[in-house]
Amino acid sequence: MRYTPLSASTYREHRARYRQQMEKGGLAVFHSNDIMPTSADGSMPFHQAADIFYLCGIDQEETILLLFPDAYDPKDREILFVRETSPSIAIWEGAKFSQAEAGALSGIANVQWTSNYDAVIKRLVPQAQHLYLNSNEHLRQGNEVETREERKNKELRALYPLHSIRRSAPIMHRSRSRKTREEVEQIAKAIAITGKAFQKVLHSLKPGLKEYEVEAEITREFIRNGSRGHAYTPILASGFNACVLHYITNDQVCNDGDVILMDFGCEYGGYASDLTRSVPVNGKFTPRQRDVYNAVLRVQKEATKLLLPGVFLADYHKQVGALMEKELIALGLLDEKEVAAQDPEKPLYKKYFMHGTSHFLGLDVHDVGLWNEPIAEGMVFTVEPGIYIREEKLGIRIENNILVTKDGQIDLFKDIPREVDEIEALMAQGKKVVA
Ligand code: GLY
Ligand code: MN
Ligand code: MN
Repeated sequence: MRYTPLSASTYREHRARYRQQMEKGGLAVFHSNDIMPTSADGSMPFHQAADIFYLCGIDQEETILLLFPDAYDPKDREILFVRETSPSIAIWEGAKFSQAEAGALSGIANVQWTSNYDAVIKRLVPQAQHLYLNSNEHLRQGNEVETREERKNKELRALYPLHSIRRSAPIMHRSRSRKTREEVEQIAKAIAITGKAFQKVLHSLKPGLKEYEVEAEITREFIRNGSRGHAYTPILASGFNACVLHYITNDQVCNDGDVILMDFGCEYGGYASDLTRSVPVNGKFTPRQRDVYNAVLRVQKEATKLLLPGVFLADYHKQVGALMEKELIALGLLDEKEVAAQDPEKPLYKKYFMHGTSHFLGLDVHDVGLWNEPIAEGMVFTVEPGIYIREEKLGIRIENNILVTKDGQIDLFKDIPREVDEIEALMAQGKKVVA
């Protein structure tokens, strides 16, 4: 394994959180993702479904987890199914989890081969009152492809049409939104690697490089530090490209005088980090670039202080909008009188800052969480204001990752430079190293 997994006691704690929210007589079923095809005999690298991974730590296809706290036989209260390995699989694909290894990692005593699942279901479902089935209730989910979990849920519902169905998704969103200590440590490891990659870029960036050459440097640093790679498709957007919010082609030349917006973050042990830095390609901000940069930085610092337990995210986003409005007026981009007369439903700042400021971060980069409940201790958020001025071919975003504590925040990016002077000094150092 290229990463250190969380401990079995943390996975036990995750399952306990889930169980606490179940009704009596509930049986919950969680499935892995499929291995997705490409074409011919090709397939994409396996990506485990976040929920089953959260509950047991098994990063392997065809894994199934049953949670049945009221089962008559205590051995049936938690059952983990893993794909049976064979000499042929060992030759072609390498080692898979043995039952003992899967048990030690997850802290689950009853581990069986996946081929037993149908028989176990037949035996247990008649004992259960409710079937807890999982589904993707992420606010922005929109995938047309049916997941393995959705397929298996349909099968189960067809077999047992008279059982009442309960939703796992709200339980998972609640459980996953407040991170356990080891989860925060895992995110911090991802952030540390991402920070190293940023330092490398600061030392090597220069006019004439292609955006994908910068991407290559980042990817190299991720992989050599035990990450499997990017937690999401990275954005390396120089000049005008920074104003295209989801720019991912990364195929243009970084020009002298431009700022490059870099939004990247590695995964470590399944957990994401999510950084954005916007730096001058030639190592020195122009006065205008510096002004816009510092406006974004002030909004970021003020916004971070607003992420407190008890605050609602909708109110927070409104407050950040007001901060941004002030900065855009000072930069001469908005007119104070027009802002005073604006339709509050369509604030003018959205012309230059058109995305949200914060999202939950964890196993998914846009992690699941409780958007309509107050912020609570243990939640991890990004803080990522930006100003995008298409007519100036300038886009600046600065993004840090923040842990909410009982009475404040911890900036998990505190060691990653973001002040103008720090960035310029580090870039100048890089030039000396190269020269
Ligand atoms: N990198 C995706 C985001 O910042 O939300
Ligand atoms: Mn980002
Ligand atoms: Mn983000």
